[in-house]
Amino acid sequence: MTKKKIVLAYSGGLDTSVMLKWLQEQYKSDVVSLTLDVGQEENMKKIEEKAWSLGVVNAYTMDVKKEFAQEYVYPAIKANALYMDSYPISSSLSRPLIAKKMVEVAEMEDAYAVAHGCTGKGNDQIRFDVTIKALSPKTKIIAPVREWKFDRHGEIVYAKEHGIPVPVTVDSPYSVDQNLWGRSIEGGVLEYPDKMVPKEVWEWTKEIKDTPDEPEFITIGFEKGVPVSIDAVEMDPVSILQKLNEKGGKHGIGRIEHMEDRTVGLKSRETYECPAAEIILTAHKDLEKMVLTIHQMLTKREIDHKWTVLAYQGLWVDPLMQDLDAFINSTQEKVTGWVTMKLHKGTAKPVKRNSEFSLYDYNLTSFDINTKYDQGDALGFIALWGLPSVTAWNLKHVMQESELEKQEQKVITPSKTKKANSNL
Ligand code: ARG
Repeated sequence: MTKKKIVLAYSGGLDTSVMLKWLQEQYKSDVVSLTLDVGQEENMKKIEEKAWSLGVVNAYTMDVKKEFAQEYVYPAIKANALYMDSYPISSSLSRPLIAKKMVEVAEMEDAYAVAHGCTGKGNDQIRFDVTIKALSPKTKIIAPVREWKFDRHGEIVYAKEHGIPVPVTVDSPYSVDQNLWGRSIEGGVLEYPDKMVPKEVWEWTKEIKDTPDEPEFITIGFEKGVPVSIDAVEMDPVSILQKLNEKGGKHGIGRIEHMEDRTVGLKSRETYECPAAEIILTAHKDLEKMVLTIHQMLTKREIDHKWTVLAYQGLWVDPLMQDLDAFINSTQEKVTGWVTMKLHKGTAKPVKRNSEFSLYDYNLTSFDINTKYDQGDALGFIALWGLPSVTAWNLKHVMQESELEKQEQKVITPSKTKKANSNL
């Protein structure tokens, strides 16, 4: 008799390997592994082989880099997504895609459950669970770490007992999550915010002292809010992200370290390397400043923020997301053009830009020429523009003066009172 099946999101690491065996035992089920390539630069073939060796009944390996870049990263670029002004939500963006693929494979395999390796203390469990619940309400969700009682040592003992290879690097105290949009490092000494991030944590980005002394200039072409070329050479989204990660990393760009508010109510110190994200988001914002009106800019800032928080908090499926996308996409119609970025010693700065939709007009703005902008108009404009503020200011001062006069009168009053008293 064939057993019931569970689809496990399998990374090849110790946790999900232990999980694979544990699910077979505890749930008396067959396990199907699913490993997705979102640009984490790992040997997918080796991971699949490991899954087979641990006794899966089927193993799926899918390259979803293109879908991830196009359907998840690109919307985040349009929304200038930086959670708490710092984090480009790289891990957050991959979760709804992984969840979607888990559900797809569960359907293909006729599995009753899906399983993931998230802990009960993080955001990732929310992103997975909410998406899975929406896409497939009938599918059971198993998160072994929320159920089992293993600590690190227990896990290693279990692994050894079950013939699961324990990597020599098991000593690394860090939990790492990587994709095309960035690298997240958590755990170990990083959990002490009053201690510096040790050098060994950084892998994608160079120390400033090891970066080139000469700046590098690169020009990013945008079309409707998303990058389409580097130095006038058209490239697909995946290659653009890979290339900018590499170039940015070389210049030490994209190291992020901040205090973060998790959705589950915890504060944590988070560490990321996101070179491509830093370069692209900075360039994108710069181009928006050239083509959007101030009113679009100010409203978009609020909508962008709302979008980012929803994505971070795992509500990718909420209809509000589509509503906000509609606004954002409408603004991006004009975000076409190019921005040249200067990469140097850990920084990525825009140094020139242009767009066919530019609202900047040399003939209007320049100090050098007489234009149809009549400087005399400024006088009347300022009079009306400042009217409410000037009126309020003046009123306040009139009131203050009369208050002062009253005080002065009071100083005179006591002698009068004395007199009055002596008359009693
Ligand atoms: N704090 C980040 C987030 O919630 C990163 C989580 C990534 N997970 C990891 N195992 N490092 O998006």
